[in-house]
Amino acid sequence: MAGEKGNIFKRAWTAVADFFDERFDMRRVVSEFAGHNVPAHVNWLYCFGGITFLAFLIQALTGILLAFYYQPTIDQAYSSVLHIMEDVPFGVFIRSLHAWTANIMILMVILHMLRVFFHAAYRPPRELNWMTGVILFFTTVTFGFSGYLLPMNQLSYWATKVGSEIAGSMPFVGSEIQTFLLGGTKIADATLSRFYAIHVIILPIAISVLLGLHFLMVRKQGIADPL
Ligand code: HEM
Repeated sequence: MAGEKGNIFKRAWTAVADFFDERFDMRRVVSEFAGHNVPAHVNWLYCFGGITFLAFLIQALTGILLAFYYQPTIDQAYSSVLHIMEDVPFGVFIRSLHAWTANIMILMVILHMLRVFFHAAYRPPRELNWMTGVILFFTTVTFGFSGYLLPMNQLSYWATKVGSEIAGSMPFVGSEIQTFLLGGTKIADATLSRFYAIHVIILPIAISVLLGLHFLMVRKQGIADPL
């Protein structure tokens, strides 16, 4: 009986695979993308890039769920977060997962960067991938900074105040950058709208494009040989 069931699943799976294969040459595309052997020298130190990517996927999924309930205005941000924590089913879990995974993502990207650095994998022909990585690193940190304001609690307020004042102290362009970030001269509704747009629209688009380039280059150039 169990063998027959397994058989049905196998035949259904083969039928679905055949359907897509006939139309999109899927088997060749999948084997082109995923059918490579891992080089023999690769060990657990090489897992940090993949874990960073997994963290990003968790952030995208939990972030979308949070966006169903979060309200980006000074009056409602904090109370909407309380509502998520107290009333929404699985709200505490989803919000905590989002907050913890943000920290894990930053830790993992740093470990990944150190791994690449100490294996000198930035050398030719991977310089452009290193540079893409540097932008990815700043994108990840900016995700963290822009997300920090969103709950609009005391920590958020003061971190944003200090962060925007640091930007404001830059020579020549500082005050323009500070006004741009805050949407005025102080933290208000305009600030929250800006940080929210940066957090849920601009950075997700930027990181998706950058990750696409990053992975294409890893695919094309392969994993660097050991030193
Ligand atoms: C969201 C951030 C990032 C993700 C998801 C990510 C993901 C990955 C993955 C999965 C790989 C292949 C396996 C591995 O070596 O770990 C890789 C390789 C690489 N990454 Fe990243 N990465 C990120 C950020 C960075 C940063 C910040 C740098 C450096 C500044 C960087 C530079 C590189 C380089 C040079 C390679 C090729 C390594 C080699 O050939 O040995 N990446 N990345």
